[in-house]
Amino acid sequence: MKKAGIIGIGSYVPDRVVTNLDLEKMVDTTDEWIKTRTGISLRRIGPENACTSDMGAEAARKALEHARLSPENIDLIIVASASPDMIFPSTACIIQSKIGASNAAAFDIQAGCTGFVYALTCAVQFIVSGMYKNILVVGAEMLSRITDWEDRNTCVLFGDGAGAVVISEVEEGGILSSYLGADGTGADLLILPAGGSKEPASIDTVAKRRHFIQMNGNEVFKFAVRILEEAARKATEKANLSMNDVDYIVPHQANIRIIDAAVKRLKFPREQLVMNLDRYGNMSSASIPVALDEAYRDKRIKRGDIVLLVGFGAGLTWGANLLEWSID
Ligand code: ACO
Repeated sequence: MKKAGIIGIGSYVPDRVVTNLDLEKMVDTTDEWIKTRTGISLRRIGPENACTSDMGAEAARKALEHARLSPENIDLIIVASASPDMIFPSTACIIQSKIGASNAAAFDIQAGCTGFVYALTCAVQFIVSGMYKNILVVGAEMLSRITDWEDRNTCVLFGDGAGAVVISEVEEGGILSSYLGADGTGADLLILPAGGSKEPASIDTVAKRRHFIQMNGNEVFKFAVRILEEAARKATEKANLSMNDVDYIVPHQANIRIIDAAVKRLKFPREQLVMNLDRYGNMSSASIPVALDEAYRDKRIKRGDIVLLVGFGAGLTWGANLLEWSID
């Protein structure tokens, strides 16, 4: 059976930094509350004249360059985003046009913050089946556009950014196992209520601020701790490995307390966690690929390392990919 792995990686975050002190001027919050309750100090916010596909295209170009492939070599683009440019066309089609990947099919995946893990898992199936050779997987978010900057419960959490990987057949290592799950009975816990067919945009939906993220933070928190542990265990078991074999966990960066509680249950050493939440906040589908790119570039993750990516988010959805890093 063919093996699929990451052969190129890149990421992009916008220049503009918004600090907790900036947020103190906007809503009734404090730097201390945000740091202690979430672990976040800074987040990046995209420029007014940019959108999700611009950031996704930047990350995609870097991943292609790293993989030493030209855009024409890409057979498929899968974009994971909870903040796409539009409901349709897909952000994947827009990125295809922006980077000139004229031979690629393209579609989006909507799985909340688990989007990147879902997209990567999907890409692996196309490679191992032999249908495609090179697939670009992008996690890109401009959450600042769907964040209610008057709601202190949510606006302190999110940030903008994008990460991308190129998936191809590899001789050694690659994706060892994938595990996905969903529970739609929790759909109401994390939601952008209006703008779809259920609540089309109207003066009323705008007045009631229903085009912004709404979240039941406590319930999402409890779900996230339980599911992070479960997804990590399931993916390692599927590969006939144990948590002791894992060199790094790259978790979805939602809240430091969620991650601390889950790794305590897993008895996993905290120093082997890849974290960037303090500098970027929760970038949903972009959190994992940006953190992975940083850990590879600063030479923490090296060829042969066993790396576990774990995501959880709106849907509710969750999932994990266990991989052996195969790039020098
Ligand atoms: N500043 C100051 N006080 C605040 C703030 C703030 N920014 N936000 C909430 N509070 C207040 C609340 O109003 C509440 O006050 P009250 O007791 O007077 O009512 C108090 O702080 C405690 O509120 P809790 O919601 O209980 O605070 P908690 O410790 O649970 O932290 C948080 C809230 C950070 C949202 C946490 O629940 C969390 O991280 N949940 C998970 C979020 C998450 O992971 N979301 C993303 C999932 S991924 C995706 O798909 C997008």
